[in-house]
Amino acid sequence: MTKHRIIYDTDPGIDDAIALVFLARHPEIELVGITSVFGNADIDTTTRNALYLASRFAPHVPVARGAAAPLKCPAPEPISHIHGNDALGDIERIGHVDKPEDGRAAHRFMIDAVRAHPGEITLLAVGPMTNLALALQEAPDIAALVREVVVMGGAFGINGTLGNATPAAEANMHADPDAADIVFGAPWNVSIVGLDVTHETVMTTAFLASLRDSAGDAGRFVWDVSRFYERFHASDGISRGIYAHDYSAAAFVVARALYTTRSGPVRVLTDGIAAGLTIQKPASMRTDTPAPDWDTRPACDACIGVDADAVLDLFARTLAR
Ligand code: RIB
Ligand code: CA
Repeated sequence: MTKHRIIYDTDPGIDDAIALVFLARHPEIELVGITSVFGNADIDTTTRNALYLASRFAPHVPVARGAAAPLKCPAPEPISHIHGNDALGDIERIGHVDKPEDGRAAHRFMIDAVRAHPGEITLLAVGPMTNLALALQEAPDIAALVREVVVMGGAFGINGTLGNATPAAEANMHADPDAADIVFGAPWNVSIVGLDVTHETVMTTAFLASLRDSAGDAGRFVWDVSRFYERFHASDGISRGIYAHDYSAAAFVVARALYTTRSGPVRVLTDGIAAGLTIQKPASMRTDTPAPDWDTRPACDACIGVDADAVLDLFARTLAR
């Protein structure tokens, strides 16, 4: 039974791809659309990868091309050392993908879908927030029509982690801090799945190997596509596994009871050496502590804890179906 109708806004990207396999296989999820954005690679590459992944795992789902650059700041440097030259771990020559693009820009696709299905669509955003910000700027009415927004991004220092792109900023926030600050300040329900919980959710080599051996084509793909990413994590001192960044946000949509959240308005620094830093004023903070840069904005739910074993078990059970 469909419980969650999702538009997946993504910059595939190895962990994006792993999350997409889960979204395509989970029985309670209907993928309404996939929208691409720059980030882990340029927009041509992330769009081609989105088309490839859709044609392989979700052939009936439309793919709409999104933003090629941030709202204001310069586009980020390529990170082929993390995701590979093709941004899917260089496991095979992907080449041309027959599946056509939707034809609408990603933010137009979002606006049309949300207006057509008021209250039903979840925007699951696991790349820079540019498409969501463009949609809000063109159609502010969608904030009241979206069921919720779930974001992979940010970090709130729970385990001492503030960033991975810089010492102060997580990659999706750093790539377009202006867009993120717009998204977190809009009057819609936003949940933020940041490094505080994704760094706790590690798909180990053994976990990935078990998927390879027991979850058919999907399991073999997840193993293959994660090889390059695992070598990057090993070079980063993360022994024997990968952070399940984007899958964590997908898991939140269907299993939020596995996460502990903290409510409060969130700001994103948009310039300087800490651009992309996410700062929440927790609701528990004294109300007589004036913080006008936060107090005029709606609260977001930031994830500060996770039952990582249960989240990983959910992934394995879903792929084994
Ligand atoms: O910081 C991790 C995030 O940045 C993930 O979404 C990954 O795919 C990259 O986009
Ligand atoms: Ca991503």
